[in-house]
Formats: sequence, structure tokens, C-alpha cells
Amino acid sequence: MKKPDFFALRFRDNQLEFIDQTKLPFEVEYVLTDDIERIAGAIERLEIRGAPAIGIAAAFAMALSQKKETSSEFFASSLVRLQRTRPTAVNLFWALDEMRGVFNSLNPGIDAYPVLLSKAQQILQGDVESCDAIAANGLEVFLKPSNVLTHCNTGALALGGGGTALYVIKKAYEAGLVKHVYVDETRPLLQGSRLTAFELDYYGIPFSVITDSMAAFIMKTVGIDLVITGADRIVANGDSANKIGTYNLAIASSYHNVPFYIAAPWTTIDTNSQTGDDIVIEERKQSELFTVRGNDISIPTYPARNPSFDVTPSNLIAGIITDRGLYRYPYTFV
Ligand code: MRU
Repeated sequence: MKKPDFFALRFRDNQLEFIDQTKLPFEVEYVLTDDIERIAGAIERLEIRGAPAIGIAAAFAMALSQKKETSSEFFASSLVRLQRTRPTAVNLFWALDEMRGVFNSLNPGIDAYPVLLSKAQQILQGDVESCDAIAANGLEVFLKPSNVLTHCNTGALALGGGGTALYVIKKAYEAGLVKHVYVDETRPLLQGSRLTAFELDYYGIPFSVITDSMAAFIMKTVGIDLVITGADRIVANGDSANKIGTYNLAIASSYHNVPFYIAAPWTTIDTNSQTGDDIVIEERKQSELFTVRGNDISIPTYPARNPSFDVTPSNLIAGIITDRGLYRYPYTFV
């Protein structure tokens, strides 16, 4: 089994290096930058994407805010700029809060850059370790060699470590517990057919891409043993926001008696929010529905809606696999 020789992001030569995910799977292109605006734009355009990855990128951006300029004003304005990139994934706000806490604890006159950099490295390392724990804890949900269905991309491209749902699937495959992976293409930005397919192809795991609307049919005709997705924010009662289409998948799973699991690090859990109604759902440009790689597939100005996430109610979730163990409904996170 090949280890990924690609990575979502890392820090080198005092700059953030990230793979431009908008170019995948056709081009594997890395960007090296120490520019906060470039990083914020990359998060908005989904060059860097996946809840944990955007948190890590934002943490390094906050460290970089003190590399050339050393003012607290620039720290504060960079923080606000990054907070405004994407509203739904709590990992972004968690990472920014961590960086702010460190910055505020420093005595005046101290060079903040190395201290903030070491905190960002610690956040990255924590993510690597939590991915390993999630993958180990997730094996428990495989009762036999299984057909698995997943949505969006939750592999090494979405995190600093090996992944969440896709990493569970990868480890289960290595343990002989995965027969075939069905990959929702994930409209409109195709994280499934571009990114998850890229990773599964690279790892040599057998898979088929399906359109999001085929999932119920595949459950009925082929037989899916379990569904595993990631999450962008899990609130106190277990309601979970994830890529648009996840809620449909959970409903189809319930109808067909397929256990529906979520895999996510502890940093995705937001116990300050009580139910899914408290989650802000990102609404993106309508034209994303009509344009693929710069080519129009319909009239880009047609009226449309483009919510980027939906919320799956906790009673549809058979279990939440975290780095601290497998949680079952009704959910309490302590
Ligand atoms: O819009 P994206 O591509 O950032 O959405 C990503 C997802 O919805 C993932 O499932 C989620 O962030 C978990 S990644 C481990």
C-alpha cells in the first residue's frame, strides 16, 4: 500500500506550503507563501479545504502575521480576515482562538513569531495524532468485509494527518474489512469525484464514483454495509454539519437500515452550540452550480441556491468516531 507522497499542507522555509486542491486530480501543484491574504483567499476558494486543514492553515497564517510586522493591530486584523473566510467549520475558529490565547499571554517586547509558530506546529502535530486515533477507533464499526459509501473528501487532503472517515476506510481496507468503496461525486465542487477518487486510486483501494442522487439506488441494489462521512461541526446534542448532501445520505441510510457513521476529531465538536439550528451554514456563489473548471454547463446567471453544508440530526447517526473513542446516540461529549 502506497503512503501518500502528496500532502495538504506543511510549513517549510518560513512559509506555508499547500497543494492547490482546485487543480486536482489533473495537476498536482503546490503553493508556497507567507502572505496572509493569499492564505485567506486559498481557504475561500477551496484551494485549502476540509475542516481541520483550514484550521491548521489559519494557525500558520496567524504565526506568519508576526513574521514581518510585529504589531498587535496586524495580528487582530489578520484574525478577523481569517474568521471571515468560511463560517461553518468550527476547527477554523478553534484554531484561531488557540492562536489568540497564546498571543495574548505573551509579555510585551517578546518576539511573538517563534512562539506562535511553535503553537501552529503543535496544532498540526495534534491533528496527525488524532487522525491515527480515529482510524484505530473506527475499525470497531466494521463487523465483516464491507461495501462502504462515503461523501465529500475526508482523507489526507483534508487534514494535516491521514484523514478521518477516509482514513478509517483506508485502515479497514488494510485489515481486509473493505470490499468496495462507493464515492458520492459531491456536487457542486466534486470533492468526491476529484479528491476522494484521487486518494483511493493512489492507495489502490477499489472504488466507484456515483452521483449523489444514486446513493439510495446503490443501497437497494448493490447493498451498502455502512456509510462513513466527516463533519465540519458537531454540536452538543450530536447534530452534525457536513458537506451538502450528507443529510440526504443519512435519510437514505435510515430507510435502508444502513448504519450511518461520522468520523471527526475532537476539535470538530462545538459544545457551545446546543443543536444544529445554532450552526451557520455557508452559502456560496450560485454560479458554482453552473460552471465546472471554467466551462459553463448551464447559464451561470440562472437563479439558484448554493448552501455548502447541511445538518444531519443526531438520531440518524449510528455513531460518532472520534480520537477519544466511539460515541453512540444519545450523544454527550465530555
Ligand atoms: O467545503 P469543504 O470541501 O471544505 O467541505 C469539507 C467537508 O464537508 C468534510 O467532510 C469535512 O470538512 C471533514 S474533513 C475531515
